[in-house]
Amino acid sequence: MKLDTLFVHAGHRIDPSTGALAPPIHLSTTFARDERNELIGANQYIREGNPTQSVLEEALAPLEGGAAALAFASGMAAGVALMQTLESGAHLLLPNDAYYGFRVAANDFLRPWGIRADLVAMEDVSALTAAIRPETRLVWLETPSNPLMKITDLERAISIARKTGATTLVDNTFATPVLQRPISLGADVVLHATTKYIGGHSDVQGGALVFAEKGGLYERVQHARHILGAVASPFNSWLALRGLRTLPLRMARHSANALEVARALDAHPAVSSVHYPGLESDSGHSVARRQMSAFGGMLSFRVGAGREAAIRAVGRTRLWTRATSLGGVESLIEHRATSEGATSRTPPDLIRLSVGLEHPDDLIEDLEQALAV
Ligand SMILES: Cc1ncc(COP(=O)(O)O)c(C=O)c1O
Repeated sequence: MKLDTLFVHAGHRIDPSTGALAPPIHLSTTFARDERNELIGANQYIREGNPTQSVLEEALAPLEGGAAALAFASGMAAGVALMQTLESGAHLLLPNDAYYGFRVAANDFLRPWGIRADLVAMEDVSALTAAIRPETRLVWLETPSNPLMKITDLERAISIARKTGATTLVDNTFATPVLQRPISLGADVVLHATTKYIGGHSDVQGGALVFAEKGGLYERVQHARHILGAVASPFNSWLALRGLRTLPLRMARHSANALEVARALDAHPAVSSVHYPGLESDSGHSVARRQMSAFGGMLSFRVGAGREAAIRAVGRTRLWTRATSLGGVESLIEHRATSEGATSRTPPDLIRLSVGLEHPDDLIEDLEQALAV
């Protein structure tokens, strides 16, 4: 079946007790046993799992081409649950342009536990080859990266990681399974902040991991979620599931709009560079074209006149909302270094855009008036 059909139907079943098409939201924190002490259903207690979360997981796993999925309270909770399976002495490689929260998590929490993380320019395969060590247990990949939109060749990076037996994780939040399927390129685990495109309406927080195999790693992460408590709530699971149904439609429009916005910015005299893999001039274009079906709704650009000019331009927009986050129907603009705070590595003149579903002409007109000197 084609992708659009799969997204509408994945994990869907008619509720057997009522005939309802929409899945029920089960709020119960505890689940009863029968007279023989057997659980009546599949669940015992909400922190171990709940039926609404299970429906989301059953939908997500096949859409990413995986064997199983686990839903979490946030994208960070999902990624950190995987990090929590590492043992003292392990080595982890992170992209130098990974979502900043994971860099901070590795530095502030993994380091004191004896797990060392190094940052690598993952778009340069020789840098990964040079950085990997026999004790590297996890290679973290994020493509396109946040916020510089760097593209990593997934097949090549994964084959390098394989040689030392390291687990590979791909943060697929920007691309979504509509545009990029890392498991089909050899990845062990795919991460999503479902807060973003999968939720799609800036009103749900969640995360998910999809596993290529339902084996020991899946079980260790499930144990971490159960005991450490980073579970998804039933309502947030339900919202993420609803978002999945329209994801192919939205990603097509996000991608088409972003390409038009990127082209307009690329031609603008106030803009010194545009980071969008859909532009033929972008250094990641040829790899992105091979491993993505379109280039997504995220882009960033730099303002030639520097930091203050970038902040001024953000302040002048009328249609774009000045806010962090991404993946909703509405277009967002932010001075990225401000949002990331003290640990930011982002160039100070960089503006990040989450291109929404408005008409691209309106979006471009607003950016042009905001950038006019
Ligand atoms: C690429 C990426 N991964 C992970 C996360 C973390 O997700 P959450 O905010 O749901 O914890 C974000 C958040 O912005 C992100 O952009």
